[in-house]
Amino acid sequence: MRIFSGIQPTGDKHLGNYSGGFRQYAAYQERGDAFFCIVDLHSITVDYDPADLHEQTINMAAMLFATGLDPERSTVFVQSHVPAHAEAAWLLGSVTSFGELRRMTQFKDKADRQDFVSAGLFSYPVLQAADILLYQTDAVPVGEDQRQHIEVARDIAERFNGRFGETFRLPEMIAPAVGAKIMDLQEPERKMSTTGGTPQGTVRLLDPPDVIRKKFKTAVTDSGADVRRDADSKPGITNLIEIMSVATGDEMDAVEARYDGQGYGHFKEEVADAVIALLDPIRSRYDELRSDPRELQRLLAIGAEKAREASDPTLQAMLERMGFVKSEAGRLFGAVRPREL
Ligand code: AMP
Ligand code: TRP
Repeated sequence: MRIFSGIQPTGDKHLGNYSGGFRQYAAYQERGDAFFCIVDLHSITVDYDPADLHEQTINMAAMLFATGLDPERSTVFVQSHVPAHAEAAWLLGSVTSFGELRRMTQFKDKADRQDFVSAGLFSYPVLQAADILLYQTDAVPVGEDQRQHIEVARDIAERFNGRFGETFRLPEMIAPAVGAKIMDLQEPERKMSTTGGTPQGTVRLLDPPDVIRKKFKTAVTDSGADVRRDADSKPGITNLIEIMSVATGDEMDAVEARYDGQGYGHFKEEVADAVIALLDPIRSRYDELRSDPRELQRLLAIGAEKAREASDPTLQAMLERMGFVKSEAGRLFGAVRPREL
């Protein structure tokens, strides 16, 4: 089975990213042939600082390995190191409609927060489709917020296959059963996010323990006292139960049973302790990996080479079926042989 997922290097990563992203990547690398892409080309679709992008790309590599990706088993690489992604995105733009992109809720949300809405932000899902389809992906582990993007990738694949002949495998989204959408601790009606959430309601993976404790202590709950799930009337407590389940691996029913009748204050403290226990070893592995950027760059170079080899046949097939003329070297424009780079 071919597994592919992508994560943006920009924006501090948080508990939601761990739950819907990192945790799943580490689990799925055991299930097949896995590719994990640091999507730097997606990061430039909103306002950003080039110096930060540079730094955060290396940080992201450290975080992917710190949360359990094994470079021997998984291919971890940077999107801009594999030109096929940008090339395939351009080609797929011809089988993507303006109407389907305009409907994307992530585009609408992000566009509302920008002074300058870039064309790149609008065509973001086309690049994401290219990422996935180039690798003949079967399964895409992501959080719930990516559902629309994965559906568009499938629609694009089907349209391309119908128009130019069978070229792409249709990918399936895989969201975790628990924690596919972790909510903001202060405003549990919206998802946890460093860009769209509240700072106090967002637990960053690198927050020190005392900061994490304070964030859980001030988490918004309701006027009741039962540690019990009810998404409509108790969104805050429901979210904390999910977080506890993600942090400890215990079933949500078991969490409810354990804290039955104990009140919110005690429960919040114990959720904080569980999250701190989860993140402590991740933070120290991260610090250690981050202290050797050359080793990270070496691993990323190996990943890029493997990713170029894996994606090139699909790009060549796309170009051929779309009617492009081969260059003198007998190759279609998109392909540079990996060793020539
Ligand atoms: P991003 O940082 O936007 O590139 O997201 C990386 C991964 O984290 C994606 O698979 C998202 O679906 C996932 N993710 C982001 N926010 C959340 C959240 N609040 N709950 C669960 N998963 C999330
Ligand atoms: N859009 C995704 C996010 O914000 C990141 C992403 C880019 C991605 N390309 C991908 C996720 C391909 C899965 C597969 O989280």
